[in-house]
Amino acid sequence: MYHLKLRSYLSAALLVFLPAACAKKQDGQQTKQDTTKTAAAGSGVSIGFQEAHRPRFHFTPPAKWMNDPNGMVYRKGEYHLFYQYNPDSTVWGPMHWGHAVSRNMIRREHLPIALYPDSLGTIFSGSAVVDHNNTSGLGSRENPAMVAIFTHHNSEGEKAGRNDFQTQGLAFSPDNGRTWKKYAGNPVLPNPGIRDFRDPKVIWYEAGRKWIMTLAVADHVRFYSSPDLKKWTLESQFGKDAGGHGGVWECPDLFPLPVEGRQTIRWVLLVSINPGGPNGGSATQYFVGDFDGKNFVPGQGFGKKLNTKAGSPAGRGEGVWLDHGKDNYAGVTWANVPASDGRRLFMGWMSNWQYANEVPTGSWRSAMTIARELTLGNTPAGLRVISRPVKELASIRGESVELKSRPVQGEADITREVSFDVAAAEVVLAFDAFGASRDLGLELSNDKGQKVLIGYQPGTRNFYVDRSQSGKTGFSEGFAGRHTAPRIAADASVKLHLIIDVASVELFADNGQVVMTEIFFPDSPFTKMKLFSREGSAQLTSGKVTQLKSVREGSRKVAGR
Ligand code: FRU
Repeated sequence: MYHLKLRSYLSAALLVFLPAACAKKQDGQQTKQDTTKTAAAGSGVSIGFQEAHRPRFHFTPPAKWMNDPNGMVYRKGEYHLFYQYNPDSTVWGPMHWGHAVSRNMIRREHLPIALYPDSLGTIFSGSAVVDHNNTSGLGSRENPAMVAIFTHHNSEGEKAGRNDFQTQGLAFSPDNGRTWKKYAGNPVLPNPGIRDFRDPKVIWYEAGRKWIMTLAVADHVRFYSSPDLKKWTLESQFGKDAGGHGGVWECPDLFPLPVEGRQTIRWVLLVSINPGGPNGGSATQYFVGDFDGKNFVPGQGFGKKLNTKAGSPAGRGEGVWLDHGKDNYAGVTWANVPASDGRRLFMGWMSNWQYANEVPTGSWRSAMTIARELTLGNTPAGLRVISRPVKELASIRGESVELKSRPVQGEADITREVSFDVAAAEVVLAFDAFGASRDLGLELSNDKGQKVLIGYQPGTRNFYVDRSQSGKTGFSEGFAGRHTAPRIAADASVKLHLIIDVASVELFADNGQVVMTEIFFPDSPFTKMKLFSREGSAQLTSGKVTQLKSVREGSRKVAGR
């Protein structure tokens, strides 16, 4: 909810900075020099590997503030990641699009800032496509343009009390996103007088041979269509009476998704809301249904009512949380992934607006989640989006240790068995939970007694991440705590798949049916791993711990990692 952010963080610094940023691009155009000369996030910036809380393989900006992933698009062997970026501060402010590319979604190269504020406003979230048929005329058939579709946010209009300060604009690049020009006819979708009117996600709808834009509009989404990315026609809207409404709707995405093990395709609509998440603050919900080029109709396998906590106003209608943890927001999927690959690839911002501006990192703020593959699984609760880390994670796997099957009663320290550094590791555990255990899982800790617990309680059937004693937690009231997610599967074997990276854990439970992403800030890195089962024993039926290597510059120089 950007205006809440503004109220909290519209500092003197921001007011001083904004005119300067806008002055750079008064004509709404951006030239090659423009995109390369002010490379605050440019390549060649060396990231200190030993900075406290800097993840080893999750994406972080080299310095300063980052929020939502934007414009994720695949082209010519590169997965582009643009992102909401404030190059002048470690708190949210005038938004630019930072830029990085990756060949495998794990190891990334930082590139110069792609989009700067201009006379129409700062650059809020949006998407990017490759215009293969040159429908826009902004490239050619031989060299199709990469086109970014984003929200211009005009702070002056907002300050003047207007309602039409968010409009949709285009920028295009002839050279794989290295340089960008703003489209001279911006805005391509003017504002009808609605304050929250943003975050366009555009797809090519092949059946109708047209572009479809999904836009977040206050408490719902609107679908627009276009033959050329420049003229947009309103087709329909969805959501006023569906899903969570604890906060404003933001950052939607609409895409077809095959059902695992069947020959069918359904459509998935992702919508982030802030606040109103299942464990407080911001979170992402989804709807399964059908889309015919005009209307999104939620349907069979749609899921149950949102599992909200008491006191949350969310829960009207139906919808399902994509991730029950507190730290996966504004995530969307990559465009233009080749049919020969066929995967639906997702990435989210690993923070929460409740405390994003206060987290105790140093010269930078925020990381992205690991890239994930999404599929649709037929579960006892209906069709559910299943999330799994991308298979390219294999490129950073190092040493690994199999944990022998064993009964666990109380605590079982496995640090000795795992001879390598556990601060960045993949842990895969299967427990037989039909024993007497009331609470089982894995504890990560340091020698200061700070810890994070990731577990499952058979009695309540809840997975959880407990970061209440994880180190620095006092920076925000909403941070410390034990956060839960209901289990879907009914079988005895409870599976925990964890991706741990210095300051975060991503839990993919029961083969990705239930997901929790959580960040934490211990005063020194976690060095110990314990299995636990309280009030009765549980059988560990299989286990494996694998070291995950750093992708940071200079990481090789650090001994003992
Ligand atoms: C989501 C969001 C978007 C907006 C952007 C501004 O986190 O509020 O709706 O475009 O952040 O940075």
